[in-house]
Amino acid sequence: MVMHMKIIFLYLCFLYFMAESSSSSSSTIQNYTRYKQISSLRLERINNHLENINKVPVLTIESPDGDLIDCVHKRKQLALDHPLLKNHKIQKMPSEMPRGMKVKSEQNGDSNNNTETNVGGGEGKGRVRRDVWQMWHRNGTRCPKGTVPIRRSMVHDVLRAKSLYDYGKKQRTQIPVARRSNAPEPDILSAGNGHEHAIAYTGSSSQEMYGAKASISVWDPSIEVMNEFSLSQIWVLSGSFDGPDLNSIEAGWQVSPELYGDTRPRLFTYWTSDSYQATGCYNLLCAGFIQTNSKIAIGAAISPVSSYAGNQYDISILIWKDPKVGNWWMSFGDNTLVGYWPAELFTHLAGHATMVEWGGEVVNSRSNGRHTSTQMGSGHFAEDGFGKASYFRNLEIVDIDNTLSSVQSISTLAENTNCYDIQSSYSNEWGTYFYYGGPGNNPQCP
Ligand SMILES: *[C@@H]1O[C@H](CO)[C@@H](O)[C@H](O)[C@H]1NC(C)=O
Ligand SMILES: *[C@@H]1O[C@H](CO)[C@@H](O)[C@H](O)[C@H]1NC(C)=O
Ligand SMILES: *[C@@H]1O[C@H](CO)[C@@H](O)[C@H](O)[C@H]1NC(C)=O
Repeated sequence: MVMHMKIIFLYLCFLYFMAESSSSSSSTIQNYTRYKQISSLRLERINNHLENINKVPVLTIESPDGDLIDCVHKRKQLALDHPLLKNHKIQKMPSEMPRGMKVKSEQNGDSNNNTETNVGGGEGKGRVRRDVWQMWHRNGTRCPKGTVPIRRSMVHDVLRAKSLYDYGKKQRTQIPVARRSNAPEPDILSAGNGHEHAIAYTGSSSQEMYGAKASISVWDPSIEVMNEFSLSQIWVLSGSFDGPDLNSIEAGWQVSPELYGDTRPRLFTYWTSDSYQATGCYNLLCAGFIQTNSKIAIGAAISPVSSYAGNQYDISILIWKDPKVGNWWMSFGDNTLVGYWPAELFTHLAGHATMVEWGGEVVNSRSNGRHTSTQMGSGHFAEDGFGKASYFRNLEIVDIDNTLSSVQSISTLAENTNCYDIQSSYSNEWGTYFYYGGPGNNPQCP
């Protein structure tokens, strides 16, 4: 028998995915440049995977932040590769919006007439701007009709992940913090995997929820080490936190140097139907979410962001279940439909949600032998209030009648309030709202 010596060619890849932060942004600019040795075999496997997930575009738009936005024909999008979606007919619109909302299907984002509202949380004197948009729009080119904008994944994006399998996935050990047991109150999971939260939540096994909404202020928290992140999001959950089949739909903004190679806040989505194990992924990095909008790219940077004691920018996110068809839709900003998670993807969420959470999450890897200085929200504690602390306002729930209404009772939870905290309240303009966040490492958070 002939023994074949396997010769592995080593390539030296010089990767320049530095945080090319706009100079105006935060003080610490991280350097994500890494030297990596990878085998030709691995490079081939990565390229094969990328060929599967990056569909051939009709047009590619270069964003000033370095992203490539591929305009892919709607019917060529990755979602439709999902075995359960072989004969899926793309839904153009949900059969109904939640009651009390105007439909804004597409293309109208920039004729938004209501860009500034004088709503101040506690103080009633702050300015909130709603004219939040995405950085790639500055290119000026738009995706043609019938296509959807998709952030292209590159080799270096994959190389920052722990493995090809892990690219776009959550850490497999990661489970949400508010876990419901038989006790009326959720347990707080020990933050064994280094994930820390400051969240508000509502739900009980007897309550049927069909969606959730909030407006979330957008900041650019600093991240201490590359594999940490800071996010602010809505979770729509169903199933058991202890079981293997928790269903979760998530959306918000996140700063993740590992996923994106920079420290910009980006619009993101996530889903799983098996407790973060094999199914699901971030954004459009696996088959699942079907995009219908031609202007909003999931995973693209949000711009501008809020500044301390300056303009506050927030994004509205609504996730709800189409009462007739069963798909879970997402809308962004002023009721602009982004797309949907087909009902086929889920088990428990094929019915309804049993818990909704809103808030922030960071990873504390203690890589320097102390608590991370990765910030949550604006990096300021809830007590600092409007213009300084990050917020979620107008927390709403969709009920069984497809009606959106202010959340009546929420509980809040933070593992270590010396690091990150949360304070909820109610006002006429902001309904149920909260401030949250913090700096992480400080004398009280060693
Ligand atoms: C980033 O790191 C690389 C490799 O360690 C180094 O050569 C480069 O000078 C660094 N760049 C900056 C801006 O610090
Ligand atoms: C817009 O994208 C096109 C196509 O990728 C590129 O050639 C062009 O330089 C970009 N324009 C700007 C202003 O970034
Ligand atoms: C936008 O608002 C202005 C001032 O309130 C109003 O005059 C104008 O008609 C509005 N435009 C649209 C397109 O609704």
